[in-house]
Amino acid sequence: MSMDARKNLRQRADYTQKFNENTGRHGWLRLTPAYSVKIVEELMDQYAQPARVLDPFCGTATTALSAAYRGHEGVTTDINPFLVWFGRAKTAEYSCASVDSTQSACARVIEAVNGRTIEPAPAPAIHNIERWWCQEALEFLCVLMSSIEAESEENSSERDLLLVAFCRTLIKLSNAAFNHQSMSFKDDGQLSIPLEIDMGQVFSDDIRFVLKGAQETPEGTGRVVLGDARKLSDAVEGSFDLVITSPPYANRISYIRELRPYMYWLGFLDGGRRAGELDWMTIGGTWGVATSRLLDWVRPTEAFRDPVLDAALSGIESHGRKSGRVLANYVAKYMVDIWAHFNSLVSVLGKDAEVHYIVGNSTFYGVLVSVERFYMAMLERLGFEDIECRAIRKRNSKKELFEFDVSARWPGRKRR
Ligand SMILES: C[S@@+](CC[C@H](N)C(=O)[O-])C[C@H]1O[C@@H](n2cnc3c(N)ncnc32)[C@H](O)[C@@H]1O
Repeated sequence: MSMDARKNLRQRADYTQKFNENTGRHGWLRLTPAYSVKIVEELMDQYAQPARVLDPFCGTATTALSAAYRGHEGVTTDINPFLVWFGRAKTAEYSCASVDSTQSACARVIEAVNGRTIEPAPAPAIHNIERWWCQEALEFLCVLMSSIEAESEENSSERDLLLVAFCRTLIKLSNAAFNHQSMSFKDDGQLSIPLEIDMGQVFSDDIRFVLKGAQETPEGTGRVVLGDARKLSDAVEGSFDLVITSPPYANRISYIRELRPYMYWLGFLDGGRRAGELDWMTIGGTWGVATSRLLDWVRPTEAFRDPVLDAALSGIESHGRKSGRVLANYVAKYMVDIWAHFNSLVSVLGKDAEVHYIVGNSTFYGVLVSVERFYMAMLERLGFEDIECRAIRKRNSKKELFEFDVSARWPGRKRR
């Protein structure tokens, strides 16, 4: 697509997670880099027959849930255990009995919270917790958590649904702001919640919203697996007809950082060390220890090579000594990981499987990294056919940043 044609692309809020907010289960929790269910459904529209749909980068399980709602079999993997828990809750089937018992459990929870008849749970070990919640909200959340634990069984549907509502409430009562590319704090630093807020009511409203979605049972199935997209055959079985996914972008967004309030409260994180380790395993992660490791990281000799990529890496490295090297290594490692992913993908694709990667380009020190082109080159090198790249929307950050759908067909065997 020419630069002129790209200029005419709009930001298209309907192609971002904003579209999902009022779409039942898709709106349960926001993940800033989640994509819009609309993109996924438009791509899935081409499949009338039930298909096996894979999303190797699950995130909030948008693809798997859409696939299940359309009667397909959706399978999805993610390396983040919180997202796997959430994706399972989002794609599960809930009987009328479990919806009713969650409602009753919620009433008991509210009663216990209002009467303060229960010992509060300990506050999570999240760094600078006082920046996140004012004292009153924190106390409320601690009592709410212990009441949920007391009124529902571990690993039950009721517990899952109550915890999804808890996640919604903890964000509403926090000082988190979503007006930047990644989650930040509200500008005014205001740390008190408006007096008129009835926190119990916030939670009741959230559980009502969650239960409404829970009653919309998908016709097909959604399976969410903890696994590494660089080793797909260890995680999933059989072959797939369609891949619709949005991999991490090379833009230094850390999913662990984005998700830390949920992950700390629900016990998936207990300190900075684990957060950094998990981010290091995540493609594109650069939080904490992950950044310092990048400085010493060495690009393997068998890595994917491309002269345009090499030029971009040198361009980035030449800006600033240490930070130039860290960022060049960041991009190089990202490409190594995506190459490993594509190599593992082909072992789980059926003949003529169609793949769609929704991905954005990046810039570092003014050097444009055309990630979509490297994806095309990788697919080509592996033997994919009918490779196309369609710009689908302009991103709202810098003028040269776009989102693309890189698509291709797998002919059934690797190029010799
Ligand atoms: C852009 S997000 C996906 C968003 C998703 N499409 C949605 O709508 O919510 C990318 C996801 O890839 C996951 N991820 C990163 N590295 C991974 C890996 N090696 N294996 C599996 N998942 C990984 C991240 O945890 C993150 O959830």
